[in-house]
Amino acid sequence: MARSLLIAAALALVSSVTAQCGSGANAKVTGSGSSFTATKGSSTVYTGSDYRAAIQAAVDSISSGQRVSVIASGSIGASTITISSGKIFEGCGTINTASRAGHGAIEVLNASGVQIPHLTMTGSPYFGLRFYGTKDLVLGKITMNLSGGLGIRFDRDQAANTNVKMDVINVTGAGSHALETWNIDGLTINTVIANNVGESGLLLQKTTNAKVGLVDGNNVGAGTGYATLRFANNNGQLSSGAYTTNVVIDKVVSRGGGRGVFCVSQSGGATIGTVDLASNGNNAILIENCYNLRINGGTVNGGGEVRISARDEFPNTKDIWITLKVDNTSVKESPCGENTNWTLSGNGARSIC
Ligand SMILES: *[C@@H]1O[C@H](CO)[C@@H](O)[C@H](O)[C@H]1NC(C)=O
Ligand SMILES: *[C@@H]1O[C@H](CO)[C@@H](O)[C@H](O)[C@H]1NC(C)=O
Ligand SMILES: *[C@@H]1O[C@H](CO)[C@@H](O)[C@H](O)[C@H]1NC(C)=O
Ligand SMILES: *[C@@H]1O[C@H](CO)[C@@H](O)[C@H](O)[C@H]1NC(C)=O
Ligand SMILES: *[C@@H]1O[C@H](CO)[C@@H](O)[C@H](O)[C@H]1NC(C)=O
Repeated sequence: MARSLLIAAALALVSSVTAQCGSGANAKVTGSGSSFTATKGSSTVYTGSDYRAAIQAAVDSISSGQRVSVIASGSIGASTITISSGKIFEGCGTINTASRAGHGAIEVLNASGVQIPHLTMTGSPYFGLRFYGTKDLVLGKITMNLSGGLGIRFDRDQAANTNVKMDVINVTGAGSHALETWNIDGLTINTVIANNVGESGLLLQKTTNAKVGLVDGNNVGAGTGYATLRFANNNGQLSSGAYTTNVVIDKVVSRGGGRGVFCVSQSGGATIGTVDLASNGNNAILIENCYNLRINGGTVNGGGEVRISARDEFPNTKDIWITLKVDNTSVKESPCGENTNWTLSGNGARSIC
């Protein structure tokens, strides 16, 4: 209760800050079709047919602490808008995108204090938003209705990120993941919504000290081993090497698609408050070479089995505590984990240690 009140309060705060897209802008992009104008105060900094150039000119015209609002809708094509430290960027119109290999339609690289309170994106970007080396990044209401690509990506082989906050991330139609992180210390997300995405809803990797309210996936990763919520590649392992609990997810909802919850490749240090999983096409829950994971309650109805497993390449699964009602699908633990504690109800068959 205390946590949900806190999250509700945080959400209300972010919502009030982000209430009217376009208000208080220091620079704006207006126009439509093949005619766009970027203004900074009373001066025109771009006029012409190139939507991307208009947006970048507006972004480049503001200084740290100032706000640019893209009122116009248009297409940037296979290109990138870059936002530097301290700038506030709002997409009030709809920004349509195409794929620029290895790049984001919008990038924030090695920058601190950037805020994107509103954004609506369509098209098929390679990455809708791409980040690395960020500090104090804030994302507000981000809505992506895509026809392919990956929604939001924090890079693997680049500088790490600290103190990242997100309000509501809503991704539809990504071919890959809705939201994929690598290398974040300090992450707070209110809600991730993923509908009809090809791989994961929320994929956390090498991310520590994370708090997430709700992850809600519908038809996520169908026909794959990906999941509505996936922890992978040492997620939740602290720099000391320990798996002390530092990743807290309040709730996971998943319908259809591939897996519901998947913890793999030496990840852990996590607590999931409650799950509501049904008809997942692969394992409803798969816990494989995962250390210190608790699922404190919730339900699984149908879909693939709930499974504790392990591969030989990493130390065995350890310290898994699960309280769960499982109906209409089975629960299996093989090989036996170390210090596994099941508190199960429901009608599902069990084969546990
Ligand atoms: C980002 O910062 C890292 C070090 O913090 C540096 O090695 C890298 O070159 C920077 N990249 C860019 C594109 O500035
Ligand atoms: C999402 O985009 C598709 C086209 O790719 C469109 O048919 C659909 O209406 C859009 N949905 C919303 C809610 O805008
Ligand atoms: C998510 O975005 C889609 C448009 O892409 C919209 O139809 C849907 O209502 C949004 N969901 C929420 C919960 O805001
Ligand atoms: C189990 O599945 C059956 C149908 O296959 C359904 O009627 C029943 O409600 C399910 N059990 C629960 C607890 O939902
Ligand atoms: C297993 O978990 C339950 C529920 O959290 C707890 O009550 C019980 O003491 C645990 N068992 C052991 C052996 O630790």
